[in-house]
Amino acid sequence: MINGIKPLDRSLRWGMVGGGGTSQIGYIHRSAALRDNTFTLLAGAFDIDAERGRAFGTSLGVDSHRCYADYETLFRQEAERADGIEAVSIATPNNTHFAICKAALEYGLHVVCEKPLCFTTAEAEALAELSQKQNKIVGLTYGYSGFQLIQQARSMIAEGLLGDIRIVNMSFSHGFHNEAVELDNPSTRWRVDPKFVGPSYVLGDLATHPLFLAETLLPALKIKRLMCSRQSFVKTRAPLEDNAFVLMEYDNGAVGSLWCSAVNSGSMHGQRIRAIGSKASIEWWDEQPNQLRYEVQGEPVRILERGMSYLAPHVLEEDRISGGHAEGLFEAWSNLYRRFAIAMDATDRGDKALLARFWYPDVHAGVAGVRWVERCVESADAGAIWVDFAS
Ligand code: NAI
Repeated sequence: MINGIKPLDRSLRWGMVGGGGTSQIGYIHRSAALRDNTFTLLAGAFDIDAERGRAFGTSLGVDSHRCYADYETLFRQEAERADGIEAVSIATPNNTHFAICKAALEYGLHVVCEKPLCFTTAEAEALAELSQKQNKIVGLTYGYSGFQLIQQARSMIAEGLLGDIRIVNMSFSHGFHNEAVELDNPSTRWRVDPKFVGPSYVLGDLATHPLFLAETLLPALKIKRLMCSRQSFVKTRAPLEDNAFVLMEYDNGAVGSLWCSAVNSGSMHGQRIRAIGSKASIEWWDEQPNQLRYEVQGEPVRILERGMSYLAPHVLEEDRISGGHAEGLFEAWSNLYRRFAIAMDATDRGDKALLARFWYPDVHAGVAGVRWVERCVESADAGAIWVDFAS
């Protein structure tokens, strides 16, 4: 059980780029990073508007001299300090991730980066190589993968409880953008502008989440080829899609489907994953993250509840409040940040044994997501044809 005691004998000196006072996602980064005393927030370039960023940083208690106007100044000046930051989180719009992540690694920082990692496979692979060369980790905030019951599902599948895996059915389909809400909402406006998001909207913004859940549940399953059809129901969003369907074939003969949408009117989030085997199925829904459905053919449905003693012991190690109480996205993110800190510390100590058996959404998860989006766009724009995934 996690009880607030530091898992490390140090707290990593930490900074942020983006995630300012008006951002959607900055607060959950800070809540998660600071929750277990594994990171101390000491510096940042929090906002595209330097003055607003400084005012915000100081309101968080960061020294005003360490609230910088931009990320280059942040990295350069912190590198000159004996007590400069060791790790940085990047919570800015997508078009900036590659340059900021590259610069951070070049300055010898560990990185936590928002998804998608960048826009092209070539860029993503360059970041993976740089991270290896610098011996610094890049963690990706696929936040839903931090839910305990995702780790439980992974264990049950690894134990063979589902039998041979046949079908993976995924969706992330909400209704919040069923109209052109971007006209009044700056946080949505950049999401539908190719200058900021590159070649896709919902494929990169939404679909990469359940895609990573599938990679987490089924690490052995490799996509062989895929086919994508994408649409812009709000016409002003074209060529970016606000809805897409993707079919996948895996190398073991299994098949998968993923529906991502921002125009699923009435739906709150609609992120689900269902893994179907020859004996049984498992299903998890992010709107009820404390329950996992386990359905054995011919038997009554079992609903596994978070925090209960019948879960795997390593899953219970990440329990924060015991069964019966709801945990949510903030706890899932905290679990991930805790893992990022452990991986950063192990990397610094050269603890290869720990890293070899340690799971967290790493730079390869970032590369896989970027490659997947790239292939989906290629397929859709060629008329929804099958394209090889790996080539
Ligand atoms: P937002 O538009 O609400 O906030 C962006 C923040 O970054 C603002 O504070 C802005 O001033 C700052 N910023 C922009 N350019 C900057 C720069 N060059 N230097 C420093 N600060 C800069 O965006 P939101 O929704 O917070 O998204 C940020 C990132 O987080 C995106 O990549 C998005 O895809 C990702 N995201 C991830 C989620 C997840 O579940 N992992 C959920 C929501 C967003």
